[in-house]
Amino acid sequence: MSTPFSTRLLSALTAARCVVAFTGAGMSAESGVPTFRGTDGIWSKFKAEELASMSAFMKNPALVWEWYAERKRVISGIHPNAGHLALVRMQGLFPDFAIVTQNIDNLHQRAGSTMVYELHGNIERNYCIKCGAPASNDEVLAQHGVPTCARCGGTIRPDVVWFGEMLPEDDWRHSERAMSRADVCLSIGTSGIVYPAASLPLLAKQQGAFLAEVNPERTPLSDVADEVITGPSGVILPALFDQVAASRSHSLQY
Ligand code: OAD
Repeated sequence: MSTPFSTRLLSALTAARCVVAFTGAGMSAESGVPTFRGTDGIWSKFKAEELASMSAFMKNPALVWEWYAERKRVISGIHPNAGHLALVRMQGLFPDFAIVTQNIDNLHQRAGSTMVYELHGNIERNYCIKCGAPASNDEVLAQHGVPTCARCGGTIRPDVVWFGEMLPEDDWRHSERAMSRADVCLSIGTSGIVYPAASLPLLAKQQGAFLAEVNPERTPLSDVADEVITGPSGVILPALFDQVAASRSHSLQY
């Protein structure tokens, strides 16, 4: 049977102990979540600096909340796709498997992945900028306009990383560690241009991992990857899972 995967990639995955998937917006494209860049991307229609920064929030919290409330509604109505589900099955193949995601849509967790590090936060969470208390999506969406904290009356914000903000310390540290011990890193559906997140697949490769990219288009990472698999993750990942599961069970028997 013909396969889009090289023998080198299949051998690396068959022998791997630790595999890390690094995911971006393209991972959720087949679920109906628009990506950020490209002709139909979110940043082609909206200005990032007017919606996704603390200064934008302080200047016009109502506008920022209008946008996030709409995104929350859209994301709550969509479902994980075949790519997310393939990564859930993949976690059962390796003793050490983690997902490092730039996505805030919670779809990896909703699909059933258990080891997920979130570099840019999660749109299903919120917190008070005054006292830090968490607030549920139901709680914030039930309020009209800018939601306020039930505990102290402070303004609530979505728990997502905005431009100019630090990445969550724990998730970052765990991600760096996972990348450092990875035998294989799969970079999936990301343009690989937003730092510091984009440095992580490069770190994995520097530390000896086999780096494979899954994307319908080339990215800056394509030139350094050991393998570039061209296509949508919802098609590529289930096929990759099938091949790797078969070769790992075969190699265990002999
Ligand atoms: P981008 O929108 O920059 O890139 C999406 C990538 O997904 C592109 O390389 C597409 O070619 C690819 N793609 C599209 N459809 C795909 C499919 N079906 N399967 C696989 N790949 C597909 O999104 P990110 O790289 O995630 O940050 O962007 C990184 C960060 O920039 C985001 O986390 C966000 C954004 O500004 C913050 O909000 C802090």
